[in-house]
Formats: sequence, C-alpha cells, structure tokens
Amino acid sequence: MDEHLEANRRHWDELVPIHVRSKLYKLEGFKAGRCTLDDIEREGLGEVSGKSLLHLQCHFGLDTMSWARLGAKVTGADFSEEAIALARSLAEELDIAADFVCSDLYDLPKNLDGVFDIVFTSHGVLTWLPDLGRWAEVIAHFLKPGGVFYIVESHPTAHIFDDELETPELKVRYPYFHQEPMRFEDEGSYADPSADVQHKTTYEWMHPLSEMINSLIAAGLRIESFNEYPFCAWKMLPFMVQDDDGCWRFPDGNQSVPLMFSLRAVKETMPLMAETS
Ligand SMILES: C[S@@+](CC[C@H](N)C(=O)[O-])C[C@H]1O[C@@H](n2cnc3c(N)ncnc32)[C@H](O)[C@@H]1O
Repeated sequence: MDEHLEANRRHWDELVPIHVRSKLYKLEGFKAGRCTLDDIEREGLGEVSGKSLLHLQCHFGLDTMSWARLGAKVTGADFSEEAIALARSLAEELDIAADFVCSDLYDLPKNLDGVFDIVFTSHGVLTWLPDLGRWAEVIAHFLKPGGVFYIVESHPTAHIFDDELETPELKVRYPYFHQEPMRFEDEGSYADPSADVQHKTTYEWMHPLSEMINSLIAAGLRIESFNEYPFCAWKMLPFMVQDDDGCWRFPDGNQSVPLMFSLRAVKETMPLMAETS
C-alpha cells in the first residue's frame, strides 16, 4: 500500500476505540435501536428494503447497519482492520445481517465479488482518497446497470478556510485546486478533540467538485440530482454552532458558504452511443 494510505490507515485504526467510546457516535443509543442516518441520506435513497447496498468507507459500520435495519442487504467496506473487526462484532452482538470487508477502496474489486443496487458513501470520505477517477471506476464496477450511487459529503469550498481560528472569520488557508497530498499533524479527532492520538500524521487530498462530477460522468454514471447545504454533519470550523436538528452552522444565520452537498447518480444501462448521421 502507498505510504500515505498506510499512514492514514494507522491513524484510522487508532481512532476506532476512541470513536466507539465517544459521545458523537452514541453507541448505546445505536444498540437500543437509534438510526444513525440523517433525513438527507434517508430521503436521498428512498425505500431501500430488499435492495443490495454497498457502503464505501463505512468506518465501524453504524450507518451500514442502520441501512440494514431499514431492510437493505448490506455490505460495508473500509481499510481499517480495527473498524471492520468492531463492525463485525457489533453486527453479531445485535443480530444484524451485515457483511463487512476489510480492503483499501482501490483494491475492493479484487477483494469483493458481486454487484449492488446501491453504492453509498458519506461524511468525511473524499479527502482520504488520492484519485477520484479510480474511485468513480470502483463505484461503477460495483453498480448493477440502473443502480444508484448516493453521496452526502462536506463541501470542498468549506475545506479552504483556516480551521484553527476560534473567531467567526473566514480566512482562506488551504488551496481549492491542489493535486499533491497535504500533510497534517492534528491533535485529537473530530469525535473526541481531547483524545491522545499517537499516529497523528495523515495525508489528505483536495478535490474540487468538478473533479468529482467529471470522474462520475467519465465512469458512466448519469447525475440525477445535486444539492448544496449551508450546514453540515460535524463541526468543521471551531466557531460553528450546533442547532436542535444536530447540524452544524455558522452563527447568526450566516449562510454565505456551502458546507455540505449531496449527489445522486445512476449507472447508465447502455453504453453511450456516438450519434450517427
Ligand atoms: C470520516 S470516516 C467515515 C465516517 C462515516 N461516514 C461515519 O459516519 O462513521 C472515513 C473512513 O474512511 C476510511 N478510509 C480512509 N481511506 C480509505 C481507503 N483508502 N480505503 C478504504 N477506506 C478508507 C477510514 O478508515 C474511515 O473509516
């Protein structure tokens, strides 16, 4: 595995036991039946009962198992062995039918057979991937013709701002257009900022929206809907405030920047035909 992805995997392995104890993931509530999917995710995919669903970068599987509780036949995939081991043990403990595969996203076609009605991924996934062209090909590989891809993710525009300023200022710190991996040495994690994380070094990639959209189109997906939101699922910047709906926003009704997006696409049933005269 590439050295950047290897560093990221060590980091994610270490975060799993921290996250499972964190208030953010509310494991006890999940065990008692709480659905971890938000309204946007549920409405975006609609009825999933009886459908096969592949969840990419599933972490320790709470969202994957929430789709299973809604009737989908689920498979979750993630490159963290710790995450997949925990997901499997939770599924067994809670008697939820769910398969989990440990694999780097780009190696998944070698490690998982079959095609799915739905490929789903959400919240904090794209910056960990160096190449969205290959990401989109993996999605197309696993979709049945006519199958649906759905993503809800933080908006790349919101990633350019200084994430250490406590005051509500938007100061550009990171480039929107940037090919090289960016190295971080952050303390803690989004689920527990005070956690003592040893494997701090991570590498992340900026991906303009156009890169994601063009990658999906090139892989043979037709975009059905694309939405942007002035709120997101976690505290991306220190001065953001959480509303009663659990979403994080800029204070004082400030809606100047898109913070999250969702996209739904369908795998074309027929190869695109060149027009003949
Ligand atoms: C922010 S988490 C996703 C969180 C998830 N949506 C949730 O709510 O729990 C990102 C996940 O991507 C996984 N990941 C990062 N790079 C990966 C790669 N190259 N292949 C597979 N999984 C990867 C990490 O292990 C981690 O579980």
